[in-house]
Amino acid sequence: MTNDKCQMTNESVPSGHNLNLGILVSGRGSNLQAIIDACEGGKIPAKVAVVISNDPAAAGLERAKKHNIPAVVFEPKNYKDKNTYELEIVKELKKHNAQLVCLAGYMRIVGAVLLEHFPRRIINIHPSLLPSFPGLRAQRQALDHGVTVTGCTVHFVDAGCDTGPIIIQSAVPVKENDTEETLSARILEQEHQIYPLAIEFIAKDRLKIEGRRVKLKKM
Ligand code: GRF
Repeated sequence: MTNDKCQMTNESVPSGHNLNLGILVSGRGSNLQAIIDACEGGKIPAKVAVVISNDPAAAGLERAKKHNIPAVVFEPKNYKDKNTYELEIVKELKKHNAQLVCLAGYMRIVGAVLLEHFPRRIINIHPSLLPSFPGLRAQRQALDHGVTVTGCTVHFVDAGCDTGPIIIQSAVPVKENDTEETLSARILEQEHQIYPLAIEFIAKDRLKIEGRRVKLKKM
């Protein structure tokens, strides 16, 4: 990542109590569920305002509907290019007053339009201890590499793939007999803890980005 991709110096992260969230999903939506539960259970001062998927078959859409959260699909194939596609997403997010965009298993690289409209306001969860194992099948990559510890990371999104400043990480030991499935399941438990926590930090204005480092302000 170069500095021009990530102009995040000495700035507080925009926030507010009862932060409005826009969540982008492509599939199962278990992280979405963890966020919805944390919001509805009053554990974090935030609200899921809209769920958007690029895939009409994403189970996350049904999860949203069960909680009376607007669930919207924009399929990239219906747009002439990535910018036009992302502009539709931006319009929908703004319609619902989303203040923070959370990628939760969203299987597309975020482009310039989303980044421009939500500067320092897009975060992602990734199932490895970044910068190790970015991209697809991070748990498989960890097993193949033979690491003894892996985990998950919540980070700000920049123009790279899983490269933005790191907010919070959780380590998960790799067991000798782990398969991709068993390891993924243990990492997922941690994802469901740290993603709502990262959102809580932002909602409570606890984060300060200094270059690549994200610092937690004292209460
Ligand atoms: C999670 O492992 C997340 O870290 C990765 O994609 C997966 C999404 O799972 N980015 P879910 O859709 O939240 O259940």
